[in-house]
This record gives sequence, structure tokens and C-alpha cells, in this order.
Amino acid sequence: MSVDVNDLIDMDRGRVDRSIFWNDDLYQLELERIFARCWLFVAHESQLSKPGDFVTTWMGEDHVIVVRDRSGVNQVLLNTCPHRGNRVCHAEVGQVRGFVCNYHGWSFGLDGKLRGVYEAPAFERTPGFDMGDIGLKTASVAAYKGLIFATFDPDPPTLEDFLGDFRWYLDVILDNDPDGTEFVGGSIRSVLACNWKIASENFAGDALHAGWTHESAAQALFGQSVPRLSDDPDSFAANVNGHGWEFNLDLVGNAATLGDRQILRYLREREREVTERLGEIRSRMVGSISSANVFPNLSFLPGQNAFRTWHPRGPRTSELQTWVLVNKGMPEELKVAYRKGAMRTFSPSGVFEMDDGENWEYSTQANQGFVTRNQPLYYGLGLGTEIEHPDMPGHVFRGQINDANQRAFYRRWAELLTDPPTAASGR
Ligand code: FES
Ligand SMILES: [Fe+2]
Repeated sequence: MSVDVNDLIDMDRGRVDRSIFWNDDLYQLELERIFARCWLFVAHESQLSKPGDFVTTWMGEDHVIVVRDRSGVNQVLLNTCPHRGNRVCHAEVGQVRGFVCNYHGWSFGLDGKLRGVYEAPAFERTPGFDMGDIGLKTASVAAYKGLIFATFDPDPPTLEDFLGDFRWYLDVILDNDPDGTEFVGGSIRSVLACNWKIASENFAGDALHAGWTHESAAQALFGQSVPRLSDDPDSFAANVNGHGWEFNLDLVGNAATLGDRQILRYLREREREVTERLGEIRSRMVGSISSANVFPNLSFLPGQNAFRTWHPRGPRTSELQTWVLVNKGMPEELKVAYRKGAMRTFSPSGVFEMDDGENWEYSTQANQGFVTRNQPLYYGLGLGTEIEHPDMPGHVFRGQINDANQRAFYRRWAELLTDPPTAASGR
């Protein structure tokens, strides 16, 4: 590619070239250097309780099966037959003893190994054919407090290193209760005509849009305005390795938009217990006005409990998959309340999701215009607001009305795009 990626972003001034949301060559580079390399969220452990339980999902545009094998290990298998390439699993979720390809009948174990072939004698007579050499490609797999991640990087950093000190923030939602978390219900898929980065960066740090974009929905639902945050002293943005979390310390700001008093009661009653577990700051973050993104494309809303990935489908389209994350130990009726609340706010028919989707689609499609495409975008909000905080790790910034996390997201994006994979990758 003739473009120098570093010329496309100027994070010292806060400027971004719009071609990053439109250029097909850059998109191919993203698939190679971001989605085939980063640790990507693929499932929650609660979805795979018994051997043979599986879900299918995407790592970039690569379709994968996440399955618990006979020894209880979670495997991530590339969902394509090594014979002619057909999918070996067509379901989104289920329970199986193995996978059999529809085309010529090759069968694979839960570990991805080739176990049997149709018309076996013909293969056995074929020089060089060795069942042990052929199987579904596997990814490296690791978990952090219930979240299963996978990577196709042949020499990846540990998941702990990839997440780094962002784990301190993740524990706000993953470890505020000793019983841990689970997904409830299934997942919802929808397609948005927007670039995946526009959605991811929004969750990483765009508190600015909330009070404006979602004001009419907030008025319609609750008869209340979204609070102004510019002068709020308990308002921060934090980022680590391109992962971003913007937040307030108001305990229930996000959760209040679910419109269910029992959820607010639950959060308030647990505040002391969470303080003992995670300290005062994080106890105030649990349901607060906040949003977060694990680089590159895993986003969630603490308090609203919508948990999602933005799967890339070309530079102009994203496929959104949404789940609802809850504490495993909470009463059933609360889990139902969270699920219904999340659907009312952040699902394809959710009031806030529709607000966002329209903005992101126009922000992407505007770049079709040649002249439009050549106008830089402004990402300078909050330059110079970094602070040292005695408790909060990573890069911490005063004020969640800030582009600091978006700048960190694009710095990480450029760093990866300009770092070619090693020759040993064999991808
Ligand atoms: S493509 Fe799978 S068995 Fe032939
Ligand atoms: Fe939004």
C-alpha cells in the first residue's frame, strides 16, 4: 500500500484522515495486522458449561467455532474444512460430539483433529495422505474472569499483557461479586452501515455525544435530561494499550436508564460490599455513566450491561452482536430486568441504539465524496488533561468529556498497522 499510515493520524494535534473509514487497502491491512493478531473476545465461559457445547462467532472476517472439548478445555477452531473449504458448522450455538462436513463427509473431533473420511480406502492408498497432518486450524485461547479470548498470532503476548492494567478497570464489571458473571438469554445480531472503528471508538471514550444524541430519548423515557459532565470533578477517561474506559463515580447513572427501581436498589445495597472487594473508586463505577472498549472491537456499558462486538464486514459495514452480562449470583428477577432493560435501550429496536446507528452510518457514508474524504476530522478535545492519579492505573485524564481514549485507540491502531507480521506467522 502506498499510503503511510502514520500520515493519516496526528494525535499530538488530534486530527484523523477520513480515509481510514473508507479505504479498502487499509481495511485489508486491518484484517491482517489487527484482527488476525490481537486477542479477540469470542465467548463467555457461561455459554460453554459441558463438553461439546459450542458457539460460532467471528474473528475479523474469519468464522470460528468456540467449543468445550472432552477434557474440558475451550478450543477455538477455524470454521472451514481443509478439504474444499466448506463450513463444518452451520449453527450459531449447540451441543455436539464432533463436526461433520456436509460436502464430502470429513469428520472432526472437538479438538479440530480429522477423525474420519468418507471412502477411506481411497485416501489410505494415496501417498502422503496423513490424517494427523490435516485438521481445523486452531487459535490460541485464554480467559480472563469468564471472558474467553482467542488469537491467531503465532507468537502472541499473554492475555494478561495484552489487557495490562486495563484488568483493574475490567474487574469493575467482572469481579464485583464473588460468584462472577454470566450471559443471560441468547445474542442479537444486526448490521450497521458503518465502519467498525466508529462504533468502537464511541464506546472507548465518546461521553460527549450522550447528552446531545440521546437527549430526546432520555426525555421520552424518563422525562429527564442527560446530566452535563464538563465541570464534574468525579469524571475521568482512562486508557491502557488502546483499551478505553470513560466514567463517572455516580454509581447508578447508566443503570438508571434501564428504568427499573429494583436494579438501582441492588446496586445501592451492594455498594459497601463492593467497596470492601474493589475499593471505593471502583465501587462507584459499577453502574455509573460510562462506556468502555477493549481494543479492537469489544464494547460494553457498565450498568446497562449491554456487551457487544462490532465484527468488521468491509470498511463500510459492521455486524453487531449483543449479549447481556449479569452477576451470576443475582436474583433471577433482576437478571430478567437487566435483559429487558438492555433490550429497551441497546438492541436493534432499543431507543439509544437507533440514535447511535444513524449518526455512525452518516459519519461513514459521508466519506464517499472525494472532496469530503479529504477533510480531516477533529479529535483534539481534552488535549493536555492527563493527570497522575494515586489509585487509577494507565493513562488517566481529567473529565470524561474528552477525546483522550479515542486518540489512544488510533495510536494503537497505527502502531499495529505499521508493524508487519513476522515471516514465521504462516497465517
Ligand atoms: S469440503 Fe469438507 S469434506 Fe470436502
Ligand atoms: Fe450512544
